[in-house]
Amino acid sequence: MPESGLFFEQMSLGPMQNFIYLIGCKKTRACLVVDPAWDIDALVTRASEAGYDLRGALVTHYHPDHVGGSFFGFKVPGGVAELLEQVPDAAIHVNKLEAEGLAKITGVPLSALQTHESGDRVQIGEIEIQLIHTPGHTPGSQCFLVDGKLVSGDTLFIQGCGRVDLPGANPEDMYRSLTQKLALLPDDTVLYPGHHYDPKPSEQLGVLKRSNHYLRVPDMDTWLAMMG
Ligand SMILES: [Fe+2]
Repeated sequence: MPESGLFFEQMSLGPMQNFIYLIGCKKTRACLVVDPAWDIDALVTRASEAGYDLRGALVTHYHPDHVGGSFFGFKVPGGVAELLEQVPDAAIHVNKLEAEGLAKITGVPLSALQTHESGDRVQIGEIEIQLIHTPGHTPGSQCFLVDGKLVSGDTLFIQGCGRVDLPGANPEDMYRSLTQKLALLPDDTVLYPGHHYDPKPSEQLGVLKRSNHYLRVPDMDTWLAMMG
């Protein structure tokens, strides 16, 4: 099997156990960061130590523990605003439904954001990343699929799924995202979630289809009863 040329690194940063990812191309030595919150210096340094040029960010969703900014009077450091200070021409990729919220929460101008539809592909060097719109946790939540790896933000965790009781969340959308999108991906896809909530940092989707109750709910009525 030919080597894929994918550079992929998982890091845990911050008090909320966020997982942050570097996704890059071994050939061109360019990379993107997924959800650059908490510590931009650490992310830029890590990319550079690994020999990569950090070109921008992929945003799973606009909650400040993933993108920086303020919520409930609490300020999360790092984030897309600080990334743009350090890398002024960084591309910030966000679902189109979340661009306004991202701009508001982080203070980054809308003009600095690249908005996307589901199914869009983002290229970094020779690596292609597929964007899958998975609303539910937030309206514009999206997952990233690259070379059999699914970076899922707060949509799907190893033993659960993202909260659907926060402002902007929608339990019906979450059910459809889980059952009609993520559960249809091949069993050997490996899930890389947005938080280190479970003992394992990643797991095969085929295992989760058997072990994660949130992927096994038979119908919407049962789901809505379960989600309160
Ligand atoms: Fe979230």
